[in-house]
Order: sequence, then C-alpha cells, then structure tokens
Amino acid sequence: MEFPFDINQSFSERISVLDQNLVASWRSTGSPELQSHIATVIDELGRASAKAQQLSAPITSASKLQSQDHQLYLLKDRESCGGRGVVVGFLKVGYKKLFLLNQQGVHIEAEPLCVLDFYVAENLQRHGYGLELFNFMLQHKNAEPVQMAYDRPSPKLLAFLAKHYSLMQSVPQVNNFVVFEGFFLNRTAVQLRKAPYKKPDGEIKPYSLMEREVVHQEQRTLPWPFAHPQSPQRLVSSQHSHSVSVESSPSRVLPPSASPGSSRDQGVQLPLIERCRTRRSNSLNRSQLGFH
Ligand code: COA
Repeated sequence: MEFPFDINQSFSERISVLDQNLVASWRSTGSPELQSHIATVIDELGRASAKAQQLSAPITSASKLQSQDHQLYLLKDRESCGGRGVVVGFLKVGYKKLFLLNQQGVHIEAEPLCVLDFYVAENLQRHGYGLELFNFMLQHKNAEPVQMAYDRPSPKLLAFLAKHYSLMQSVPQVNNFVVFEGFFLNRTAVQLRKAPYKKPDGEIKPYSLMEREVVHQEQRTLPWPFAHPQSPQRLVSSQHSHSVSVESSPSRVLPPSASPGSSRDQGVQLPLIERCRTRRSNSLNRSQLGFH
C-alpha cells in the first residue's frame, strides 16, 4: 500500500506499535505533519480492511484508535516504492470483557486479549506477512493464540489460525466472538469467573452503537441471558458461532450461508428482545454505550 509521503519517515521500525497516542514516540519526536500522515495511513488501512471483509463500516480509524485502549501493529516494507517504503498490513488487538460459554455451557465472564482487526494488502497476502505480524504481537503481549478471542473472524482468518496455530475446534458461543478449545484451560480463577445468571442492566453494555449497526441482525439471535444454554440455538455447533460481548465489529455483508455469523440466522426473531434492547438502549447514557 503506497502513500504520497515517505512511509519510512512516519514509521521507523519494520513493525510499529501504535496506541492511543497514535505512535508511542510521537509526543517526543513527532510533528503535526507526521501525526497527520500516521492518521492518513491508519484511516486508509481501516477502509481497506473493511472492504476486504465486506464490513458495512471500518472498525479501525485514527480517531477510534485515539479513543480506545487498543494496540495496532503496523508492518511496513522499507525497500519498496523507491526506498520510500510501503505499508504491508496491520493487526489490532485489545482486551474485552466477554461473557462466554465454556464447554459445559456455563456462562463465564472473562477479559481476554482479542483480535479486533487484521489486514494484509491484497497483493501481499499468503506471503507470510500475517504470520510475522501475529507472532510479533504474541511476543509483545506475551500471549498465546489459544487464550485469545477472535471478533467475527473471516474465513481467511479461520484458515490462518488453523494453519499456523492448529486452532480448529471452537467452543460454540451465541454471539460475535470465537474462542477455541483450550481457551478455558490454565486460567486463574481471577481471569475466569462464573457470570451471575442475570446481570443488572447497567453492567452489560449493549452492542456499541459507535461500531455496530447490526442490531436488527443480532435480534435474530437469542443472546444470553435470553438464550438458555440448552436451547436449540445453543446446540447449533458451528466453528463460527458467536459469544456475547460488550462490543464488536459491524456485520459482514455476506449472505447468511457464507457469513461466520450464519448460526445467528437459525434463531427466531423475538419481539420481546427487541423491546428489551430498545428499552435498555434508551436508558443508557453515553459512557455506557461505549463512548469512552
Ligand atoms: N484464502 C484462504 N486462506 C487464506 C487466504 C485466502 N485468500 N489468505 C490467507 N489465508 C490463510 C491460509 O491458511 C494461508 O495458508 P495457505 O496459503 O497455505 O493456504 C495463510 O493464511 C497464509 O498465512 P500468511 O501469509 O501469514 O497470512 P496473510 O499474510 O495472508 O494474512 C490475513 C492473513 C487474514 C490477515 C489476510 O489474508 C487478510 O488480510 N485477509 C483479508 C482481511 C481479513 O479477512 N482479515 C481478518 C479479519 S477478521
């Protein structure tokens, strides 16, 4: 991915770690022009990723990164483009509080590191750059792929995880996030705790209105606590099934059969859920809606 400015000036390392400050060293060394270049690159990457995943809107942008506690790993190739460098791709991760079903169907509250967005430029895919980014992130965060959660993973990401990390068997969930067998092992009681059967409204955030516009689609699902663990929907075992989360990405614009969220479409529409969601959404203030 080329830009009309010198990528090597904006990003000194092969892999840069960007966070709320846009770049770790920007405050001490950067200029407003540099920050504007970095923002341009992030916005462009976010748009390309959304397009590649057929999302209705980007989930990554400079302004979102500045307002959220996420890390973005950006990979460049120094030599390309006459020595000005090109951007190869990025990986965005962050911790999320999730309500997950373990293998016994018990709701568990956890706050794992999550893959939130991941993109390698089309012409550079399947050259090992995704693996390089992912392995760098694992080392930087001292994380294991099996202990992470994946926000609405695309078929390409599922293939990537299966190939490189042997992650194949997911634990069925009822919403957006995918976790794999082994996720619930070797975690301390502090990291995992049984979620109370019903949380007070204020503690469960609805899907972030900032990042999602899929409530109408989600309504086809019976999310916890509406879904009983033994409900027919719970029994739909899908490698792509989803879990309840506090926020997640926009929907992928795919036919139900092709979408990782297709299990959602096997549920029934419940007007009651719509009413509950509407009521709860209306009563939440901005911070509860995720506008941090
Ligand atoms: N079709 C199927 N699997 C693919 C694929 C494709 N077009 N592209 C990558 N993969 C998987 C395969 O397992 C592949 O191994 P293979 O070539 O032997 O089949 C493996 O990833 C290649 O690994 P690597 O080269 O390190 O990955 P990458 O640089 O292509 O990066 C992605 C992986 C997912 C980031 C990249 O394919 C991408 O940007 N896809 C589009 C955006 C996307 O789906 N992002 C995931 C967000 S949920």
